[in-house]
Amino acid sequence: MSKMRTDYCGELRADDIGREVSVCGWVDRRREHGENLAFIDLRDRTGVIQCVVDERHDLRSEYVVRISGTVRPRPEGTVNPKLDTGEVEIGDCQVEVLSAAEPPPFPLHSRTEVDENVRLRYRYVDLRGERLQRNLALRATVNSAIRRSMEAQRFTEIETPMLVASTPEGARDFVVPSRLHPGRFYALPQSPQIFKQLCMVGGLDRYYQIARCLRDEDLRADRQFEFMQLDAEASFAGQDEVMAFITEAVAAAVKAVTGNRPDEPIFMTWTDAMERFGSDKPDVRFGLELVELTELFEGTEAKVFQVECVKGINHKGGSESLGRNAIDELTRKCQQWGAKGLAWFRVGDDGTLDGALTKFMSEQEQAALGPAMGAEPGDLLLLIADRRSKVRDILGLLRLELGRPPVTEGGLHFVWVTEFPLFESIDDQGRPIAAHHPFTMPHADDVGLLDGSGEDLLAVRSQAYDLVLNGWELGSGSVRIHRPDIQRAVFRALGISDDEAETRFGFLLDAFRYGAPPHAGFAFGIDRLVAILAGEENIREVIAFPKTQSGADPLSNSPTPIADRHLDELGLRLLPPPAAAG
Ligand code: AMO
Repeated sequence: MSKMRTDYCGELRADDIGREVSVCGWVDRRREHGENLAFIDLRDRTGVIQCVVDERHDLRSEYVVRISGTVRPRPEGTVNPKLDTGEVEIGDCQVEVLSAAEPPPFPLHSRTEVDENVRLRYRYVDLRGERLQRNLALRATVNSAIRRSMEAQRFTEIETPMLVASTPEGARDFVVPSRLHPGRFYALPQSPQIFKQLCMVGGLDRYYQIARCLRDEDLRADRQFEFMQLDAEASFAGQDEVMAFITEAVAAAVKAVTGNRPDEPIFMTWTDAMERFGSDKPDVRFGLELVELTELFEGTEAKVFQVECVKGINHKGGSESLGRNAIDELTRKCQQWGAKGLAWFRVGDDGTLDGALTKFMSEQEQAALGPAMGAEPGDLLLLIADRRSKVRDILGLLRLELGRPPVTEGGLHFVWVTEFPLFESIDDQGRPIAAHHPFTMPHADDVGLLDGSGEDLLAVRSQAYDLVLNGWELGSGSVRIHRPDIQRAVFRALGISDDEAETRFGFLLDAFRYGAPPHAGFAFGIDRLVAILAGEENIREVIAFPKTQSGADPLSNSPTPIADRHLDELGLRLLPPPAAAG
């Protein structure tokens, strides 16, 4: 029996000259050549090969064909050094059309951006293009390297359920109505968090999974409803060991893609990250660090600077490159982010400052500001004065606005951010909001502070840690609470009553009564890691079938209405859509 295919298109080389081959694929390009000849570039996932075909065949773009013939050298002067198969072609071709094709909805080699809705509506055509072929192959390489690394580190792959009770990650759940239990719903997992902790109680020691997670949240460049995590948990291990496991898995993935291990990650506490970069996901590919100026303005006459905190950014050479309009635009942005205003100073040739606020500043302040910020002639000094948390956030955004390089530039810079606060803020009712999830262990030195209330609780540090890559939050993890007394104290601080804790997480708390090992874990977003390695700004470019920004799938038309009999079966009635309801 002859094989349908003997070779892949993109793999034929001069060594193959003289061989009879059969290749299969899509007609990529077609060029007429004289009376009775056409050159067909046949494409499969490995690349293209030129086939010399006589004119009797009416082959159009994207036809699926099988071509059998003999590999031969291209005639003198027609060798194409840009193509891996550029030295050879297939001659004496027998052509078999396996499937005709309508003209594609968009050209595969379009130089202009094709509308994304159209790309997603015809994703199967889009997938044939070089970009997605490359990105999905890269993704598979990453997954496989991660698996190998986790297994080498003695982690066991364990699958956890998709129909679960609500999980504590803090986004909205997608829910699934139960037919057999009318009026009850499953939640789809926001992460395997609770199950992986149960695996630790179950003595499985080291768990990992490349897990699908679902969260009903607003979509952005780095967010989809469905995404994949490398999810891991380890018993009898603490923060340093978990960070080492994950560093190893990520380095293995990078090496599999680029051929080299990345530089070792740097470590930074959350407070340092916030003070120096104005962000808990510091992009350390560039400078523009925040400079502390609060002390410099102590006792100042200038009203704007009589606040909790003053910090600034020295935009090197910015006085020359930014005109008044550009600075006004930056001011507007800062105001949108919540600033009262942006204080700015141009640094003159003799080092003196020029700006609207100098007249309110003492000579001493004026003389000290430049040196404090390492200013040189031509620089632009940008200052924000406000509450400390606000100053950091706004300058963090301004810093990215001024300096963030494209995803393809600056190499790979991993940062472990440690000592996150246990609570990120206080809500309207004076209750703290968990920064990670409620099972995160407080810092050993801060457990005593849990009895405090209000703002005091914001000082409690946790044993939670994030991995950041080039300013993207790649993943998060923590040491978990395995002691009931500490868990109760955290729930109490969060305003979760014993009853509520019992209803929501009772099964986990029960499990902890039957012998829970100390454990810690982590999860990172595979879509995000792959996007950065592929040089893509949007994770949709590394997912085979993503949703649009509005959460729809133009290919299958989901979400779709369901039939009344289905609703009946599930015991559900629909309210009128919101637009018609009023
Ligand atoms: P967390 O909620 O921080 O932690 O999620 C971990 C990582 O998952 C990725 N991620 C997403 N990627 C794409 N689209 C989304 N909507 C999305 N949401 C999250 C991010 C993020 O850093 N159970 C804990 C981990 C643990 O404590 O072990 C958790 O899920 O890269």
